[in-house]
Amino acid sequence: MDFKDSIRVIPDFPQPGISFKDITTLLQNGPAYKKAIDEMKELVSSLKIDVIAGPEARGFVIGAPLAYALGVGFVPIRKSGKLPYETIEVGYDLEYGKDTLAMHTDAIKKGQNVLIADDLLATGGTISTSVNLVNQLGGNVVGAAFLIELTALNGRAKLPGIEVFTMLTYED
Ligand code: PRP
Ligand code: MG
Repeated sequence: MDFKDSIRVIPDFPQPGISFKDITTLLQNGPAYKKAIDEMKELVSSLKIDVIAGPEARGFVIGAPLAYALGVGFVPIRKSGKLPYETIEVGYDLEYGKDTLAMHTDAIKKGQNVLIADDLLATGGTISTSVNLVNQLGGNVVGAAFLIELTALNGRAKLPGIEVFTMLTYED
């Protein structure tokens, strides 16, 4: 299956010059969505994973089914102000804009092996911030898994020492 056939590319969204990879068309296609998650499970099969952490919002639609498929827990990394219990927060720059991500202070137990999962690796800001949060909580990041990597943005450079797994690549 060529997953790119199920991903819609929208030029100049949300601003001129950005080529938006719209995964809603993949998600609404049951066989394609299932196969994508099954193949991501295979991609990370060499890792020992205790829990998957995924950043809101698109990280949930990849990370949660992957956690279910692997039989491990899922921890949400949320934008500021959404989590009800005590949190840690880190601000970061996006490809377009700024934001803050948060985790519950008890979301990860010290020494747990954590896979971070998201739909897309672009500049790496979201995932390096997610790694920072998990590390602050004492988690051991064993890898980062993505449906899509935009290679020209070189997000991998923000993830030194972290094994990166991607299903599909686009230049930008
Ligand atoms: C998008 C995407 C990734 C991130 C990638 O999320 O889902 O999480 O950008 O970009 P980066 O590598 O440059 O950080 P966005 O913040 O747009 O929010 P959403 O997931 O809530 O749609
Ligand atoms: Mg996102």
